Amino acid sequence: MRVDGRWRRTIWLGSDGWSVEIVDQTALPGRFEIVRLATVEDAARAITSMQVRGAPLIGVAAGYGLALALRTDGSDRVLESALAMLGSTRPTAVNLQWALDRCKAVLAPLAPAERGPASYRLAAAMADEDAETCHRIGETGAALLAERHGALGDQRPLQILTHCNAGWLATVDWGTALAPIYLAHDAGIPVHVWVDETRPRNQGLLTAWELGQHGVPHTVIVDNAGGLLMRKGRVDLCMVGTDRVARNGDVANKIGTYLKALAAFDNGVPFYVAAPSSSIDFSVATGHLIPLEERRPDELGLGPGVAVTNPAFDVTPARLVTALITERGVCRAAEADLGALFPERVR
Ligand code: MRU
Repeated sequence: MRVDGRWRRTIWLGSDGWSVEIVDQTALPGRFEIVRLATVEDAARAITSMQVRGAPLIGVAAGYGLALALRTDGSDRVLESALAMLGSTRPTAVNLQWALDRCKAVLAPLAPAERGPASYRLAAAMADEDAETCHRIGETGAALLAERHGALGDQRPLQILTHCNAGWLATVDWGTALAPIYLAHDAGIPVHVWVDETRPRNQGLLTAWELGQHGVPHTVIVDNAGGLLMRKGRVDLCMVGTDRVARNGDVANKIGTYLKALAAFDNGVPFYVAAPSSSIDFSVATGHLIPLEERRPDELGLGPGVAVTNPAFDVTPARLVTALITERGVCRAAEADLGALFPERVR
């Protein structure tokens, strides 16, 4: 992703060779600030406070957090406490546990002295893989967008609605839902993106900022406008990301995704979910079993004395999802199709 003309990732190793640097997403879109993480506590705080956010990036940040913990002490005690600390930061995105399980399986059998260097190698490998995975999702999704644009039969831009931020900022590079849009735009397919504001944390403004950096035409809308736009025929398709896909194809994503899927279904608008395999949880049978994060009431900014509940995610049933776009291709949101695409993950 290019920021002010310079190609960047969202997480990287500092110039000292061991600390970790991130883009502070709580400062965007106003300010582009870089934060240095020096301890596992720094990494855990960055995830909880949403300085780093988005399912794939949370997983990679946890991998680097583990490396920061093991750098000076690779003992079992430090490994276990770092796994517990990072694992409790956010509950919904399965990428977090996916990354920690993967690290544990590699690191636990090693001698303590080997764990520090090995954890840095693993975190770097996960970061590279995430960028590669997202690029593949981008290629597959861009082909789908090209096909959809061709079917319009005219040269007007393809109108795409997205919710939350499933872009470069939510991953190591490219994004999931936004990767197809970037690649389609780069290939000369005219696209315009309706960007849901995504209250209460306004991740839509991150999406608008990213799209602006890449030169993709877009318009921010309030969360409740999507239904009207779909009814008026002003949305050709929806494209969102996910924090966890259950085995049956149910999709957890940012609160409000479900309402968009309902409106899309009612209006015959295709509803696509971009899902890297690190976000697919074959251990969870249906969306009912996905833990949904409840965040602090003060995020709504309503002041004291107002009763508030703040669920951060919802579940869209598989029947409302037109298709999943993965790094191995497009499939129906259904157990058989997911199993056929990822046979090695079936338990
Ligand atoms: O609470 P957030 O901002 O971490 O939630 C992010 C989302 O819901 C994204 O849509 C999802 O993680 C997919 S990111 C590629």
